[in-house]
Amino acid sequence: MSDIVVIGVGYVGLVTGTCFAEMGHTVTCIDIDKSKIEKLKKGTIPFYEPGLKELVERNQKGKRLQFSTSYEDVQNAKACFIAVGTPEGKTGKADLSQVEAAAQAIGKHLRHYTVIVNKSTAPVGTVKLLKGLIRDHLEEDIPFDVVSCPEFLKEGSAIDDCMKPDRIIIGSDSEKATRVLKRLYSSFTFNHDRILIMDIESAELTKYASNAMLATRISFMNELSWMCEKVGANINAVRKGMSADHRIGYHFLYAGAGYGGSCFPKDIRALCALSAELKCETPLLEAVEAINEKQKKRLSKRISDYFSKKGGIQGKTIAIWGLAFKPNTDDMRDAPSLTLIHSLLKKGAILRLYDPIAMPNAKKALKGEENLRFCISEYQAAQHADAIVLVTEWKQFRFVNLNTVLSKMRGNAFFDGRNQYHPKEMAAKGYRYFGIGVPPTPAALLSELRSINAKKSKRYDDHRLLNDPALFD
Ligand SMILES: NC(=O)c1ccc[n+]([C@@H]2O[C@H](COP(=O)([O-])OP(=O)(O)OC[C@H]3O[C@@H](n4cnc5c(N)ncnc54)[C@H](O)[C@@H]3O)[C@@H](O)[C@H]2O)c1
Repeated sequence: MSDIVVIGVGYVGLVTGTCFAEMGHTVTCIDIDKSKIEKLKKGTIPFYEPGLKELVERNQKGKRLQFSTSYEDVQNAKACFIAVGTPEGKTGKADLSQVEAAAQAIGKHLRHYTVIVNKSTAPVGTVKLLKGLIRDHLEEDIPFDVVSCPEFLKEGSAIDDCMKPDRIIIGSDSEKATRVLKRLYSSFTFNHDRILIMDIESAELTKYASNAMLATRISFMNELSWMCEKVGANINAVRKGMSADHRIGYHFLYAGAGYGGSCFPKDIRALCALSAELKCETPLLEAVEAINEKQKKRLSKRISDYFSKKGGIQGKTIAIWGLAFKPNTDDMRDAPSLTLIHSLLKKGAILRLYDPIAMPNAKKALKGEENLRFCISEYQAAQHADAIVLVTEWKQFRFVNLNTVLSKMRGNAFFDGRNQYHPKEMAAKGYRYFGIGVPPTPAALLSELRSINAKKSKRYDDHRLLNDPALFD
């Protein structure tokens, strides 16, 4: 008997269910994927999320967390959270088939008043749709409410985000349902009230609006990086300069290889599709998406441009560091690395790939592709490489021994898709370094830096070199 049921045991469902269990609730997590549920019963977590395994284990042992493929436990629940997938449909619209199937199954199993909470990201109008579907599938006349409670957790820090949320949005038209949810969430907002109650439509739109805002900041910086490259400005300096204005702030203003993942791309496209359906123009959102698509392809073009003066990219060996769509996750959905990999393979490159965590998912995503090798470390990936491309900024790449890496390579090109390294330091070490929106090191300065580096390398260790402001500031 559980007081909370969570439908869908993906990143959102498993984290939500486990965090509620950690707060002392009894929770049943339901999924239609039998093998996932069997593995979870044995303590195997279906994806990588820091700290989740320990939390699942503890709550399973404490009998507060159960896993099931049956909807039976819906009968006893006070609240039933829907956290199934809403992937992109054919026209860009959110595909609601999983949410609809979950609502129908819930309807069949309701036996007393229950609050149904939609956590899946779904367009405005979905709560209304779910209400109708549940009503149509009730076996007797049972009262229920459906509310929207969009999820804002970030893969890689999902537990912290769930335990200490910035805000909990409740979109509700029922005081009773709002009371139930406020009580359930009270343990997460103990020292600071972060619950925002609003109408259902506003709650549904808030989730899309938040992702759209974050994606806009990224595309804005990417667009600006193109200009930096033309005029010789440095996007990192520009970022620091603009971020110092507290109205702008420091977050989410990084130029890079484009955004990806299971949310931003599909959510922006779903919002564009919804607005087209409503005949409501959204030129800004369309530009955000178009800039991102361009940015994801730009890295491949820069690499082939570089090799065009060196006999072409065909047959060149390129190491790719980082495959997951961002650090601290194994999620490869819509990862920018995939766009780059497919493009480089098409141009005839041979790829050596490495990611600290996402290798199993990367192998699945790239099944059937030839001319690529999966490596066991960033150093192995660099072996005989003509170039390295950093796509995902895992922390372990920050302080690799760049001299050792270079000694393993055949060439010396380094394409830094996340601006993680210092251009002058890379140049001094002997790399041909290319950042995003970062000017190339002038040839005269380059030879000066290299001769200083050669003279001093006997006296300075890597760490000293890295921190010598006289050389690199
Ligand atoms: N992943 C994130 O970081 C994140 C963050 C915020 C919001 N969201 C949103 O939350 C929702 C879930 O995302 P996710 O990444 O956890 O998805 P996911 O694809 O990882 O997991 C979805 C799970 O639902 C299960 N499922 C599908 N239909 C079902 C049904 N009828 N009954 C029971 N289980 C069913 C699937 O088997 C799968 O295990 C999406 O709408 C997503 O946009 C995701």
